[in-house]
Amino acid sequence: MNPLTYHGAARLLEVLPRSGIREMAALSQGRPGLIHLEFGEPSFMTPPLIRQAAAHAIETERMTYTPTPGPLELREAIAQKVERINGYPCRPEEVFVTHGATGALLLAQASLLNPGDKILFPDPGWPNPISQALSLGAQPEFYPLPSENGYIPDPSRLTIPKGTKAILINSPANPTGAVFPREVLEDLAALARREGLFVISDEAYDQIYFEKAPVSMRALYPEGTLAVYSFSKSFAMTGWRLGYLVGPEELLQGVQKVAEAFYSSTSMVAQKAALAGLKGAAADVEAMRLAYRERRDQAIEAARELELYRYTPEGAFYLMVDVAQAGDSREFAKRLLLEKRVVAVPGTAFGKVAARELRLSLAASSEEIREGLERIRQLLQEGSR
Ligand SMILES: Cc1ncc(COP(=O)(O)O)c(C=O)c1O
Repeated sequence: MNPLTYHGAARLLEVLPRSGIREMAALSQGRPGLIHLEFGEPSFMTPPLIRQAAAHAIETERMTYTPTPGPLELREAIAQKVERINGYPCRPEEVFVTHGATGALLLAQASLLNPGDKILFPDPGWPNPISQALSLGAQPEFYPLPSENGYIPDPSRLTIPKGTKAILINSPANPTGAVFPREVLEDLAALARREGLFVISDEAYDQIYFEKAPVSMRALYPEGTLAVYSFSKSFAMTGWRLGYLVGPEELLQGVQKVAEAFYSSTSMVAQKAALAGLKGAAADVEAMRLAYRERRDQAIEAARELELYRYTPEGAFYLMVDVAQAGDSREFAKRLLLEKRVVAVPGTAFGKVAARELRLSLAASSEEIREGLERIRQLLQEGSR
């Protein structure tokens, strides 16, 4: 289907793929009583202290433009958080506040890639940065995250096509919940150094992990890594639209020109809120992390009972379920919605490798996750009769 109905509009409107996540959300609209396991966002309210700080700022301050990389006070607080949580040295000059991690990914790619340059993306992977690369005229290429390897890449088998400028990695990962072990990241860092590649390290879920704290690529390959973070997930702030890049200072000076051209500074009220969160919401972040871990554990237990278990996600809040016996996951997800009233995202939304899997969000309640898995089981059994 050609979405380009407005005569003369840009080719980009045709080139960009439709989001498979949105497709399921659209199909579910106007149908009450569904179990929603498709959302990639926290089910929690933003912590009270953050909301109060925003309300106070609105009441008492002029809402103005801010410095494009973000106010110094916020960048200082972020640099301290990075040192404390992400475990590598960070100065405020190496921090750039962005319009969510989505904005950080766009600025990073726009600052690194020329038209025609290749960039490697994980498959399965979150699709939005791929569309950004296409928008920039870059050429997306893919490396597999095999399910039989727990969705962890094997750097020794990674082929780097000629003309590749950068590789995107995402750990903890959407859609799999995999957390890349330190050794794998070290091998990837060595590879990137050898091949002269930039690494865009999407760490939007850095504070949602269930076993060991994730290692940051920027700790291992600082000269070539732009790390991407978000307030959306760990602070339950998706709607505030704030994130940040951490990267080499000289590169960020160039990024500033790109940000100024694209959207200037980010929202001042969101910045005030985020600053309060960094200073005082550590206990809330930890409580949410533990709640996600609890849901993950319960989901795994239910998956085992229903004989749908394959692996244990170690971070983020997603679980991939194998529906290979039913064939294509897109058709299966549609049937699941229409016949069993459960909304999940087909693996086809994340590339080719997981085309026969479904992504469930563990941000839903344990009861909903269990019931959702139960109905998947039923549909699989009915399908194979
Ligand atoms: C892997 C990954 N990176 C980045 C983002 C975007 O986060 P933000 O809300 O900060 O733009 C998401 C959101 O789902 C995500 O899953």
